[in-house]
Amino acid sequence: MQKIEVKIPSCPKNSYTIAVGDEFLPAVLGQIKKLLPGKELFLITDANIAKTKHLKKLTGLCNLYRYVITPAGEKSKNINTVTKIVEQMEKKALGRDCAVIALGGGTVGDIAGFVAAIYKRGVPVVQIPTTTVAQADSAIGGKTGVDSSISKNAFGVFKNPTAVYIDVSTLKTLDDKQFNAGLVESIKHALIADKDYFDYLQKNLSGILARKSQPLEYIAVKNCRIKASVVENDPYEKNKRRILNYGHTIGHTVESASNYKLLHGQAVAIGIIAANIIEQKLGLGGEERLASLKKLFGRLDISLKVPKSITKRQILDIISRDKKAVQKWPRFVLLEKTGKVLCKNGQFALQVERKIVEETIDILLNRNL
Ligand SMILES: NC(=O)c1ccc[n+]([C@@H]2O[C@H](COP(=O)([O-])OP(=O)(O)OC[C@H]3O[C@@H](n4cnc5c(N)ncnc54)[C@H](O)[C@@H]3O)[C@@H](O)[C@H]2O)c1
Ligand SMILES: [Zn+2]
Repeated sequence: MQKIEVKIPSCPKNSYTIAVGDEFLPAVLGQIKKLLPGKELFLITDANIAKTKHLKKLTGLCNLYRYVITPAGEKSKNINTVTKIVEQMEKKALGRDCAVIALGGGTVGDIAGFVAAIYKRGVPVVQIPTTTVAQADSAIGGKTGVDSSISKNAFGVFKNPTAVYIDVSTLKTLDDKQFNAGLVESIKHALIADKDYFDYLQKNLSGILARKSQPLEYIAVKNCRIKASVVENDPYEKNKRRILNYGHTIGHTVESASNYKLLHGQAVAIGIIAANIIEQKLGLGGEERLASLKKLFGRLDISLKVPKSITKRQILDIISRDKKAVQKWPRFVLLEKTGKVLCKNGQFALQVERKIVEETIDILLNRNL
């Protein structure tokens, strides 16, 4: 098992350890009890995970208090679910000396982290991520929240976990579409921070897709190190943390325009291609990288075709309402080269001329990528 320290210098008591390994779930509860002595533990998972062996492996003979989110998935990521969980915790008479354990993907992790942040003004949370998205992204970094009926993560708070346990064997039961789409965040990490990692992903994709433990552990460690090094520097997303949004400006827009029919990773793949087209239009090069990316996404069976129902007007309308827009126009994270984000005057999210973005959207909407 490998251990990665996430050190938050602005608040050392919020620093935490991420453990990465294979087939170690049965030992995790014991480790949590040592880490949080005397705490009553409350487990949050979802209906799909509850059917897998992972839950049994984690809890063993221990009859933990638990809440099973039903139905599983984004539909339940709302304030009603939070209310139900909080009331369930109250019914069990859990006080401030309890701790929450999240076993699941980003949906469970975001809900459980949010509940832990607000229950009786805050109790610890331990994340045990079980999807490629959660192991590479959502379980690390401390962002939690739930959706309103209007937008995603409208209720949200930063809440760092007390510990994160990544057991890559949990990925074996994840369906192929979810598994592959989640790998897009790993590709994003490689693009923004580590060219060797990008080469590794290309060379070792078959082993990853076969869910072999060695490459899965390797990428989990890489993802955690990259994300940790970014959030350590800028835990509250004032500037550098924005580099994690690479490919997400157009990605979020397409995801929202598809009415969330596209998985996040599928939309971000389109967004990454869009960022690469913009980079070329700005003379930053990267022709070879674009070709490699198209091949890589092809091997992941991720289509780069924007759904036919989406129009240019819709994209422009959504993009102007981007959370990070300035004067109704978003900022873009761009690559100087593979493994390095372009930084101008200390800024990582840059303004791009409207004409260039519109031309890029036209290319995407031609749907012949
Ligand atoms: N907090 C953050 O920084 C952050 C970052 C990225 C994404 N997110 C959030 O994460 C959510 C998406 O997370 P996700 O992609 O992990 O989806 P998810 O948690 O909804 O899981 C996808 C599906 O897979 C099932 N599942 C999960 N693990 C499984 C396993 N091991 N075996 C079998 N089935 C399993 C789930 O029940 C669900 O049906 C979104 O709400 C997104 O906003 C948050
Ligand atoms: Zn993402």
